[in-house]
Amino acid sequence: MATNRTFTMIKPEAVAQGNTGKITDMIIEAGFKIKAMKLKQLTKEAAGEFYAVHKERPFYGELVEYMSGGPIVAMILEKENAVADFRKLIGATDPAEAEEGTIRKQFATSKAENAVHGSDSDENAAIECDFHFSADEIVG
Ligand code: CMP
Repeated sequence: MATNRTFTMIKPEAVAQGNTGKITDMIIEAGFKIKAMKLKQLTKEAAGEFYAVHKERPFYGELVEYMSGGPIVAMILEKENAVADFRKLIGATDPAEAEEGTIRKQFATSKAENAVHGSDSDENAAIECDFHFSADEIVG
């Protein structure tokens, strides 16, 4: 059953390039409600744990370095059909394949530095929200 929450991070290069506000505007304009939000810098350990599912991939080391290389903005978002609708809004992993009007089309610089993360399932959304936020950091 689809839940109404997803998890996103605005990734280090997008934060560093000053795109946090523009990306957040696109998220709100698309009808998502921000239920929790924080600016934080991931340690290598935390980035490695968050992306543990990609441990065997050749890009894992690069991914951990990149995601711990500068501050990220983490958010819990709420909307009906949140996971699928948010993945539509962010577009394909590779910005060359992302559709016009998507966040990655506009802000991603490469397949690795792709501006935003979006949960890929309801189950992972719940795990990722719990990874970054405690219950008292989420508004009712
Ligand atoms: P995301 O979908 O948030 O989660 C996995 C991340 O791994 C992905 O975004 C990219 O940042 C990164 N990634 C995926 N594929 C590649 C690749 N081929 N080379 C480098 N990084 C990648």
